[in-house]
Amino acid sequence: MSAYDTTNGYPSPYYRLANPSILPIIPYKSGKPISEVQKEFGLESIVKLASNENPAGPSPLALLALKSVLSDINFYPEDGGIELKRGLADKCGVSANNIILGHGATEVLEIIVRAFVCPGDEVISAHPSFPWFQILGQMSGAKNVIVPLREHTHDLKAMADSITSETKLIFVANPNNPTGTKVGQDEIESFLKLVPDHVVVAFDEAYIEYVTSEQIDTIKYVWRRPVIIVRTFSKFPGLAGLRIGYAIAGRQMVELLEKARAPFNTSVVSQVAALASLDDHEHRERTHRLVNEGKTFLYAQFKELGLDYAPSEANFVFVDFRADAEPIFNALLSHGFIIRPMLKTCARITIGTPEQNSGLIRALRAVLREAPSADSAPKGRAITV
Ligand SMILES: Cc1ncc(COP(=O)(O)O)c(C=O)c1O
Repeated sequence: MSAYDTTNGYPSPYYRLANPSILPIIPYKSGKPISEVQKEFGLESIVKLASNENPAGPSPLALLALKSVLSDINFYPEDGGIELKRGLADKCGVSANNIILGHGATEVLEIIVRAFVCPGDEVISAHPSFPWFQILGQMSGAKNVIVPLREHTHDLKAMADSITSETKLIFVANPNNPTGTKVGQDEIESFLKLVPDHVVVAFDEAYIEYVTSEQIDTIKYVWRRPVIIVRTFSKFPGLAGLRIGYAIAGRQMVELLEKARAPFNTSVVSQVAALASLDDHEHRERTHRLVNEGKTFLYAQFKELGLDYAPSEANFVFVDFRADAEPIFNALLSHGFIIRPMLKTCARITIGTPEQNSGLIRALRAVLREAPSADSAPKGRAITV
């Protein structure tokens, strides 16, 4: 019998062998691959603005450092990555034993769930937010409690109100993916006062370096409570392809996370590149400049086009086409631009280089001339948050 036979309504008989918790999972869908679009539309050049990568490219210091270790990759990495942890500790004002590394923030989040969440526990997260939170909840056999965003932002009061005696973990993406909105220090402070000690709070700060409106300090909470800060080298440092992220937490929390970490989970190249990127001030300046100028440009264009958008604290913008987003996405593909359609009429668009941003707007103008609008309400506003 083939794996694709239908048995008792399941796509394959092997479903009976599976951990029942994983059966309802819809696998995480990443941005459409460039090679696929190239083949489908016969295009040579494709611009991917779908996965929030850094338009400035990787940190040049990171590139130099990783080249220097290529001839040593027959050796396992130093397990735990103490040099990188020391570098991060200096930068963040903590000790190396307050840090755990992971194969991207994605794995760090998974380690947190493995370490703390049991079947039957409740895991609170927002919608729309990073889909991996809900997938992790499903994988662990927990009950996902989903709290809708309010005005495109985490509704921390409603999230705190959703806590029960079964709640084990709350995920807060700050800034949020896909809306780019942030919750500020005062809101976080009030929220944490409402969270009891039996609940772990994981602040996913994958885009925190892009926040310019306010300096947010969540590290100060890790000394007093089960708070974990998750960060990544994928976004701002431009090392998404290397897969490396980290968490900061109190020492006793890190000891528990270490129990759930696979051996040698970060590579020697990712460790040295990440460490070198910490000192790359030029790359940091260039990234801020590119992303901030790109956002200003896109906001002005969206206003002209009559499209509502959420002012973003990250390197992407959430825009509402007020028309079915899927045909717009497909039409943009034929022009060589990959964006990320979501929530029926919206899309998340990563800030690119100036040329990529203007190219996208030219294509979008052409596509929207053809696309029917879903309603005639006033448009072109920055969505108030
Ligand atoms: C909020 C958020 N957290 C984590 C990640 C994953 O980061 P990493 O590449 O380090 O796994 C993403 C990537 O899109 C994200 O948007």
